[in-house]
Amino acid sequence: MCGIIGYTGNEDVREVLLDALELLEYRGYDSAGIAMEEEDAQETTVCKCAGRVRDLRQICTAEKSRRGCGIGHTRWATHGGVSDANAHPHRVGRVTLVHNGIIENYRELIRDYELEGALHSETDSEVAAALLDRFYDGEPVEALKQTVSKLKGTFALVVMFSDHRGVIYSTRNVSPIVATVSKQGGMLASDLTALCRFTSRYFVVPEYHVLELREDSVKLTDFDGKTVEPEYLKVDWELNSSGKNGYPFYMEKEIMEQPEAIIRTIENRVKGGMPDFSMDGVPDSLFTDCERICIIACGTAMHAGLVAQALVKSILHMHIEVEMASEFMYSDPVIDSGTLVIAVSQSGETIDTLEAVKYAKRRGARCLSVINVKGSSIARESDYVIYTNAGPEIAVASTKAYTTQLAVFYLIVARMAHSRGIFSAEETQSFIRELQRTPEVMEKVLKNRRDIHLMAKKVLGAKDLFMIGRGLDHSILLEGSLKLKEVSYIHSEAYASGELKHGPIALITADTPVVAAVTQDKLMSKELSNIREVASRGADVAVFIKESLAKGLEGEFALFALPDMRNEFMVMPASVALQLLAYYVSSDKGFDVDKPRNLAKVVTVE
Ligand code: AGP
Repeated sequence: MCGIIGYTGNEDVREVLLDALELLEYRGYDSAGIAMEEEDAQETTVCKCAGRVRDLRQICTAEKSRRGCGIGHTRWATHGGVSDANAHPHRVGRVTLVHNGIIENYRELIRDYELEGALHSETDSEVAAALLDRFYDGEPVEALKQTVSKLKGTFALVVMFSDHRGVIYSTRNVSPIVATVSKQGGMLASDLTALCRFTSRYFVVPEYHVLELREDSVKLTDFDGKTVEPEYLKVDWELNSSGKNGYPFYMEKEIMEQPEAIIRTIENRVKGGMPDFSMDGVPDSLFTDCERICIIACGTAMHAGLVAQALVKSILHMHIEVEMASEFMYSDPVIDSGTLVIAVSQSGETIDTLEAVKYAKRRGARCLSVINVKGSSIARESDYVIYTNAGPEIAVASTKAYTTQLAVFYLIVARMAHSRGIFSAEETQSFIRELQRTPEVMEKVLKNRRDIHLMAKKVLGAKDLFMIGRGLDHSILLEGSLKLKEVSYIHSEAYASGELKHGPIALITADTPVVAAVTQDKLMSKELSNIREVASRGADVAVFIKESLAKGLEGEFALFALPDMRNEFMVMPASVALQLLAYYVSSDKGFDVDKPRNLAKVVTVE
């Protein structure tokens, strides 16, 4: 999704903007641009192009470094193709603007305000710039309020007015903007990754407020003209934790970081061997008063929800649904005050999930969210938040966020089981001890990653591939299959292995490799039958199997033995192995593992 940066201060504005855009590349984009105030004229210089930030650096040269004021943008195309003209910033008259989001009524605005003549691109964003210039009569705040009142959709607008030098203005609805002032000057961005080099404190620009950012001050005004104090938050990431630390790709670094990420997520939530959410301010009543649970999420976060669903059904024997956030509001969900909605999101900005949470709350549900990014939109919309302490996750393919989400769900299920009288204290402590073994078990998989790299060679040339398993293994493989699709572009399909013979087995040939997961004792024999069914039709099968179940199978299949855990925890070693499989296939194919084609790290458009 689009990345935004704004800076005004005494550092080299061109370098600050370009460096920050590089930190935002992980969000996914296809063009980039910056605009800077000219040194001695009430004008802005705009420099933009389709392509990467490195291409932008080539065309945006500067004779000398100079302090100043500027804005920058990485664009993930929505309205209008990938072209220099459609790249941001857009300048219309005295307005220079960048935008993240979607303005749904931009065509009506062009018609109603006769803006056609002012436009040089196909974008909805330039329409906002033209409208703003139309309303601008020398008063930026009033013009912004008037413009916003005409917009329908989601937007983070960041604007410079040529006759208001040194000041950057911003206003938003849904799409995020964070800001800060430090000794280097005033800075704002779409997310913390671009700010944390500058500061350890920041604030979120509240929706429907206007921010005036100067090099040494900020001013926040609500739409009634009232001045509002910014609510500063603390960046809890280590500044160097958003670097690659010597790994070729963030994805490998983040896979390797998982044991310590799990430790950071659980260490302050286990007291006396029992799960404890007092640091999060989550009351037990949230878990004891609900009659059913509804998990809402997208992508990998949704796959974490599927694992939680299996745990809730098998341990708590409760009704639970896992809803795809983008479908939720259109599926007539049965939501009421007895429903505990759990929203799961690494970024906390996925608009499908955010809108679903708002809808559920309107229907009377209480909402707990499991989020990685502090102060994000979904966190602010929720009644309660449990943060995964995975640290910044830069690779588009989510790994450590997923396993730390699982760790939070294990804590929640244990807390619920105990507070609802299903687990005794001893059973709860035993469950938590198994969770606390996760880091050491993950380390064993990571230590044997060379064997997984060899496994990866078996699927490297595949065009199509099946991943098969039953029960929890199927949920594990849904996530493993998404990882492989995302970063290697192999059409991988995870299928409940018992279902294959009802149709899809027709697709199995010697050219269709199969990856199988066998981690659940009670499902093993049926899973092996299904594996033999595909092997007898020529499929080359790679099996990720719980170590204690592998005896006697060594000669029959290519096996990777997963260190033993209790059945309900086997998703942890299995996930790390499947993440590595996807990573090695992609890196062996020579792809840009961290920035797969067409994908964005944060999906802020519906
Ligand atoms: C994960 O590998 C994907 N990049 C994607 O499915 C992601 O999980 C999904 O977009 C949800 O993002 P969120 O967790 O930030 O809400």
